[in-house]
Amino acid sequence: MRRLPPVLLEDGCPRELISLIRTVLAACKEISFRVGQGALSGVLGSTLDENIQGETQKKLDVLTNQLLKDILLESGYVKAIASEEEDFTVAGNPDANYIVAFDPLDGSSNTDINSLVGTIFSIMAAPEGSDPADPSIFMQPGKNQVAAGYVLYGPSTVLALTTGKGTRFFTLDKTHGTFLLTQDFASVPEETSEFAINASNQRHWQPAMQNYINDLIAGVTGPRGRNFNMRWIAAMVGDVHRVLCRGGIFTYPTDTKDPNKPNKLRLLYEANPMAMLIEQAGGIASTGTERIMDIQPDAIHQRVAVILGSKNEVETCLSYHK
Ligand code: F6P
Repeated sequence: MRRLPPVLLEDGCPRELISLIRTVLAACKEISFRVGQGALSGVLGSTLDENIQGETQKKLDVLTNQLLKDILLESGYVKAIASEEEDFTVAGNPDANYIVAFDPLDGSSNTDINSLVGTIFSIMAAPEGSDPADPSIFMQPGKNQVAAGYVLYGPSTVLALTTGKGTRFFTLDKTHGTFLLTQDFASVPEETSEFAINASNQRHWQPAMQNYINDLIAGVTGPRGRNFNMRWIAAMVGDVHRVLCRGGIFTYPTDTKDPNKPNKLRLLYEANPMAMLIEQAGGIASTGTERIMDIQPDAIHQRVAVILGSKNEVETCLSYHK
C-alpha cells in the first residue's frame, strides 16, 4: 500500500504543501488517539465557554483546536490560520506560502455518545507579500483551495484528501502511525435514493426545499415514483463521508428558525473543503443558487446553505430552486 507523500509527489504536489499536509495529519493522529480514549481521557463534556458563534464549546473542541494551532504554528509552514474555535485569524510565519482554515472537531456533540466526529481542513496559497496578521488573506473563493480534506474518527480513522487530482481515502494504520492509501479516486455515484437533512427544521425551510423533500418522502406514489431513505449523523463529516462512499444528497438549507442565523454551516472550513472533495469525486456542491466554491467570502465565520452530493439528485434539487 502506498503512503501519503509518494502519492502526492506523483501528483506533482509541491514539497512544502506535502510537509504542511503531513503537519495537519500529525495533529490529527494525536486527536484520533485522544478521541479514541473517550471517557478514559477525561475530556468528554462541555466547558463553561462559548465560541464566537454562540455555541457551547466541548472540552474536546478546545483541546483539538489547541493541538492543531500549536503544531501548525510551530511547523513554520503556515502564514496564518483560521479556526472555528478562534474568534480571529492567527498569524504564523511571515515567510510561509500557505494559509489553513479548519474545524478542529466537527460534530463535537457526538463525542458524548461515542459517535462520529472529524477534523476538516482547507489549504490555500497566501497572496504574495501579504501580511500574516491581515484576515483578508482568507477572503478567497473555495476554487482557490490547493488542498482540502477531513479526518474522520470512526471505527477506523480515515483521511479523505484532495489536492485537485481526485479524492482519495487513506486509513490510519494505528500500529505504525501512518496513513495508507486505501481507495484511489473515490467516485460519488450519480444516482441515489438516500438523502440527509435535519427534518425537524422542515417548517422553517424555504418553499423550494419544502417541495423537494415532500416529493422525496412521497416515495413510490409521489412524483419521483420511487422510495427514498433518510440518514442524519448530525456531523457533516460523517454524512459527507457516506455520500463520498455510496452516494446521496446532503443538505443544510437556509431556514427561518433564527432570523439572525439563516444558514448553519461555515463557508471557509466546512462548506468549501467538503465542496472540493465532492466535486473532485464527480459530485456537485451548491447553495441552491450558486456553486459553493465560487462564493467570494466576506467574513471568516461566514455561513452558507449547502446542498451537495450525487450529481443527478443535486441537479434535481436545484431545479426546484429555479
Ligand atoms: O458544524 C455544524 C454541524 O455540527 C454539522 O457538522 C452538522 O451537519 C450539523 O451541524 C448538525 O446540525 P443539527 O444540530 O441541526 O443536527
